[in-house]
Amino acid sequence: MNGLKLLATGSALPSQVVTNDDLARMVDTSDEWITSRTGISARRRCAPGESHTGLCLAAARQALERAGVGPEEIGVCLVATLTADQLSPATACTLQQELGMGEDTVCFDLNAACSGFVYALHTAQCLLAAAPRKYGLILGAEVLSRFLDYTDRSTCILFGDGAGAAVVEWREEYPSLHAVLGCRGSQAIHVPGVAVGAPSHVRMEGQAVFRFAAETVPACIVQVLDKAGLGTQDVDRFVFHQANQRIIDLAVRKLKLPPEKCTGNIASTGNTSAASVPLLLDELVRTGALGPGQRALCVGFGAGLTWGGALLQLR
Ligand code: ACO
Repeated sequence: MNGLKLLATGSALPSQVVTNDDLARMVDTSDEWITSRTGISARRRCAPGESHTGLCLAAARQALERAGVGPEEIGVCLVATLTADQLSPATACTLQQELGMGEDTVCFDLNAACSGFVYALHTAQCLLAAAPRKYGLILGAEVLSRFLDYTDRSTCILFGDGAGAAVVEWREEYPSLHAVLGCRGSQAIHVPGVAVGAPSHVRMEGQAVFRFAAETVPACIVQVLDKAGLGTQDVDRFVFHQANQRIIDLAVRKLKLPPEKCTGNIASTGNTSAASVPLLLDELVRTGALGPGQRALCVGFGAGLTWGGALLQLR
């Protein structure tokens, strides 16, 4: 067996809080509609002067300090994102320079949308097996507010900005993540790129994505547990991508999971795509809801369409 353990987490949220009432002054919606259909009450948004890179740096510094690991000890640095400040250099390369990681650190950004952090964990596990230094710095970060159409009530209410970071360690004797990753290529969620003439805002077929998530999230959890030879009772926390509380509730009911092991933070963060799982992980660790030696089953899904699940044990 070989795999990863989670040593520490960190997070950074931008200063601006956007409430449902704030949005109701911009589009035809209401706090009641948003809360009952999504579970979201507020989300964070970058103000002028705040940036994706700044959030990543703050979250990464916090995670390194809490782990007691120096930047020079990191063998692999990955940033899961689809909204970096620029296409190149990758955010991970900027972190290498700003934090002082070694020049032989493997650094790159990875785009698997809301599944990105889970994809990055699995990628790190594979890369760290071959790396000279066995610590990984893994981030999920987004500034989706840059790509929102604040006249489209079906999307602008959903998304928020933020960054989460994790320091992991690979060892021969540590348990595998037993990751399950998948993709069903589709344009059901589209985040614009740099193509000339491309629309500049997120657009989404909400109901189709909802059905996709309702199907894949429970299936992914079952597959991870089957791979690990474990049952739901062996998991201390289910860390769901915070996209819509109704999607989480469906999975909880379908798999008969104890609701107290499935709590999240969607009410205050909204959907922060790749940042969602590490932001929640950080909150659970900080509040003591996840403690030493415990197992968290992380599950993400989103644009691509992609999904991913992984079992992450704390040191
Ligand atoms: N306020 C008030 N009414 C609204 C709003 C709003 N903000 N948004 C939509 N409506 C209206 C619609 O216009 C529609 O009205 P109509 O019946 O008169 O046509 C009605 O509400 C119902 O619309 P639906 O789209 O059926 O609403 P639904 O209950 O499906 O909720 C939502 C929409 C929240 C988007 C939901 O479909 C969803 O969460 N989908 C999944 C999204 C997701 O998980 N994305 C994850 C990945 S994101 C990424 O990867 C970047």
